Amino acid sequence: MSHIGSISLFCSISIFCSISLFCSMSVHGWASKLPEERESTTNCSNMSLRRVPADLTPTTTTLDLSYNLLFQLQSSDFHSVSKLKVLILCHNRIQELDIKTFEFNKELKYLDLSNNRLKTLTWYSLAGLRHLDLSFNDFDTMPICEETGNMSHLETLGLSGAKIQKSDFQKIAYLHLNTIFLGLRTISHYEEGSLPILNATKLHIVLPTNTNFWVLLRDGIKTSKILEMTNIDGKSQFANYETQQNFTLENSKTSMLLLNKVDLLWDDLFLIFQFVWHTSVECFQIQHVTFGGKVYLNQNSFDYSNTVMRTIKLEHVHFRIFYIPQEIVYLLFTKMDIENLTISDAQMPHMRFPIYPTRFQYLNFANNILTDDLFKKPIQLPHLKTFILKDDKLETLSLVSSFANNTSLKHLDLSQNLLQHENDENCFWPETLIAMNLSSNKLADSVFRCLPRNIQILDLNNNKIQNVPKGIIHLKSLQELNLAHNFLTDLPECSHFRRLSILNIEMNLILSPTLDFFQSCQEIRTLNVGRNPFRCTCELRDFIQLEKNSEGMMIGWSESYICEYPLNLKGTRLKDVYLPELSCNTALLIITIVIIMLVLAMAVAFCCLHFDLPWYLRMLVQWTQTWRRVRKITQEQLKRNVQFHVFISYSEHDSAWVKHELIPNLEKEDGSVLICLHEGNFDLGETVTENILNCIEKSYKSIFVLSPNFVQSEWCHYELYFTHHNLFHETSDYIILILLEPIPLYCIPTRYPKLKALMEKKAYLEWPKDRRKCGLFWAHLRATLNVNLSDTRETRELQTFAEVNEEPQLSTISLIKTDCL
Ligand SMILES: *[C@@H]1O[C@H](CO)[C@@H](O)[C@H](O)[C@H]1NC(C)=O
Ligand SMILES: *[C@@H]1O[C@H](CO)[C@@H](O)[C@H](O)[C@H]1NC(C)=O
Ligand SMILES: *[C@@H]1O[C@H](CO)[C@@H](O)[C@H](O)[C@H]1NC(C)=O
Ligand SMILES: *[C@@H]1O[C@H](CO)[C@@H](O)[C@H](O)[C@H]1NC(C)=O
Ligand SMILES: *[C@@H]1O[C@H](CO)[C@@H](O)[C@H](O)[C@H]1NC(C)=O
Ligand SMILES: *[C@@H]1O[C@H](CO)[C@@H](O)[C@H](O)[C@H]1NC(C)=O
Ligand SMILES: *[C@@H]1O[C@H](CO)[C@@H](O)[C@H](O)[C@H]1NC(C)=O
Ligand SMILES: *[C@@H]1O[C@H](CO)[C@@H](O)[C@H](O)[C@H]1NC(C)=O
Ligand SMILES: *[C@@H]1O[C@H](CO)[C@@H](O)[C@H](O)[C@H]1NC(C)=O
Repeated sequence: MSHIGSISLFCSISIFCSISLFCSMSVHGWASKLPEERESTTNCSNMSLRRVPADLTPTTTTLDLSYNLLFQLQSSDFHSVSKLKVLILCHNRIQELDIKTFEFNKELKYLDLSNNRLKTLTWYSLAGLRHLDLSFNDFDTMPICEETGNMSHLETLGLSGAKIQKSDFQKIAYLHLNTIFLGLRTISHYEEGSLPILNATKLHIVLPTNTNFWVLLRDGIKTSKILEMTNIDGKSQFANYETQQNFTLENSKTSMLLLNKVDLLWDDLFLIFQFVWHTSVECFQIQHVTFGGKVYLNQNSFDYSNTVMRTIKLEHVHFRIFYIPQEIVYLLFTKMDIENLTISDAQMPHMRFPIYPTRFQYLNFANNILTDDLFKKPIQLPHLKTFILKDDKLETLSLVSSFANNTSLKHLDLSQNLLQHENDENCFWPETLIAMNLSSNKLADSVFRCLPRNIQILDLNNNKIQNVPKGIIHLKSLQELNLAHNFLTDLPECSHFRRLSILNIEMNLILSPTLDFFQSCQEIRTLNVGRNPFRCTCELRDFIQLEKNSEGMMIGWSESYICEYPLNLKGTRLKDVYLPELSCNTALLIITIVIIMLVLAMAVAFCCLHFDLPWYLRMLVQWTQTWRRVRKITQEQLKRNVQFHVFISYSEHDSAWVKHELIPNLEKEDGSVLICLHEGNFDLGETVTENILNCIEKSYKSIFVLSPNFVQSEWCHYELYFTHHNLFHETSDYIILILLEPIPLYCIPTRYPKLKALMEKKAYLEWPKDRRKCGLFWAHLRATLNVNLSDTRETRELQTFAEVNEEPQLSTISLIKTDCL
């Protein structure tokens, strides 16, 4: 038991929700159960199993045990899988079977036991079974008994047996079956009249090789509506033809006869045609037929009278050595004058038609080697609607058109030929022609001058078209056009086919489709432009946009629409390409730049107006310049013979500002600035001017607080000094002018030209009215002073000079002197 358990591990188990997975042809109608009910498949196919695995999943509904080495089934093998519906046991080595084994599988509907070695079968009525296949086994007689006739749900029954006799079939005579399949390995005896006892819609017989098929064919035609026979071969079945002249068959039922894998002498094939011609067969199809040999029968003896035949189909025909003129064979078929004739894949180099008009409506000569010679002689096919000449060797399109003009062709398939069209040849197509397949030919742009006027569907796939010319005839009905796999560089224009609704232009050389197309082709519904070498630049933007607006008009979007250029985008889907509006639209770009500049300008203007930006800038420039200058000052210069850091001179009117703003701020750093204040009390005995000049010379720097008052009352004291010493020029470091209040130029007396010049040059620090700017002002002022305060801390002595009160109402000047250095 253990080894079986381990084997079963290899069985793949899958769960699926639909029953439609297997052989749907014979099991339709099974899925009447609730769709929610889960179906599960256990597939143990091709696993060299010698026994049925013991541990089958109980819920299994489909069990595939095909292609194994099973030789015996135990009565308990399938007890565990009571839900089983489908059981496949084909291609094993089972020799004996009791159907009672499946007694507990009440749901079993499909049982395949074909291709085993069954010799004996014990029946048991499985009432629910719909498909039972016992074909290709080693039964001596047909495995049918009374119980078989009671399986009223049976639809498909496969049988085999070396002996076929009426008594066996009698047991299922009242069972109406869809399909009866006789898969015969050998046949030793056939009792004539056995097959017609069966009641089935379709009978399929696979014969063992070299069987006398003749009786089976006759009986088969009397049995079912559809008859298929496979493996028809054998030498000279009709040797005693002369005695069997009577081909009339009564009670024939078959309307559709299919012979598959036929290998016969031509005479035998000829006789089969003659036999079938007078039966009820309407559609006769022969596939994979090989014939040859000497011909004894008179080919002109074919009796074309009295038939219901409408369609003959010969496919995959091979010739053996063949001694009759081909023309006679061709004429045998074309003289049949039926509705439909197909002779395809037959290596047929030519075809002959009778000189009189024939009634063919459908002709299919695909996959042959027919050449232009086909149309060299007039052919009269006035009723021809469909002509398929796919995969032949035709070369001249205009020749085909002249032939077609004498027909009422609607559909013409000329694909896979060698067709070309020269501009100077005239084409005459019938008005009736609406669908033409010209794919895989050698047609160039000129083909558009040789097209039927009423064409609706045109396939020009895989040709050599570079351009759809403008000066073509109007194809007013053209709806579907396939130009895939050509050499077009742009979408065509629809001015000559305004009703176009489907266009395929895949695999051409389109870099960026122009959108003129959509203006002229208003009715387009489906468009395939995939697999072109798109150049993903701004020109493609509108096209990509169009797809987004067109709701699935583009077939194959987005996986077939891939950039080829530029190289950095190669392989990117068009869908994923980012081409922003801004980089593609020049006008928009300019507008954007202008707007940004305007906004910037407005921001600057606002800052200037609201925050007095120029003042800050000027101040910053001055500050940085000062710092640079200050850094150059050497210690030597600092230690020149001075006593004060700074001398401040101001008008009495401004003394409040000096005391409350200037001095506290100068001292802010660390409170040790040595200041010489000019306010009132100078040394007696000296003139004010002398005192002041003295002070200036003893101070490292001098600050003058300028205001209209100061100018009016005090400037005279300095004028002399400035003119004589000429110290105060622009680069002078020693003098700092603070403009406390604006001084209009006209207020400056004409006797002070120096002051005027200074004011014009703006060589002063301006006290800002706005308190917020004061921080910067002070910083700048301190930088200008550049006092190395740490060096000058030792001694401090305040000195006050009292002024001689010359003009006491105007000003008092005081000088606070700190003895230092
Ligand atoms: C089981 O697997 C084989 C291939 O291994 C496959 O051909 C067969 O269809 C499978 N059977 C079923 C019922 O799916
Ligand atoms: C069974 O499996 C072998 C190899 O495992 C493979 O060659 C063979 O084609 C399979 N047969 C069928 C019927 O699947
Ligand atoms: C077949 O079914 C009928 C009734 O349906 C019954 O009388 C008969 O015995 C059954 N035959 C067999 C062999 O089971
Ligand atoms: C075949 O079966 C069908 C349907 O059951 C029935 O109508 C017909 O009469 C049967 N034919 C014969 C010959 O028993
Ligand atoms: C041909 O067969 C039909 C019916 O099968 C029969 O009536 C007729 O006599 C036969 N003719 C010959 C010449 O054997
Ligand atoms: C002939 O062929 C056409 C096209 O395949 C088909 O539509 C038509 O039904 C056929 N006619 C007959 C009588 O088989
Ligand atoms: C067309 O038919 C006319 C007679 O109806 C015949 O004279 C002419 O040769 C035919 N043309 C072709 C190309 O078959
Ligand atoms: C084509 O057919 C039309 C009408 O059947 C006829 O008028 C015309 O002359 C034909 N052309 C040729 C070249 O046969
Ligand atoms: C034209 O013929 C080709 C093959 O020969 C086929 O693939 C294609 O589908 C046909 N076109 C139409 C529109 O039927």
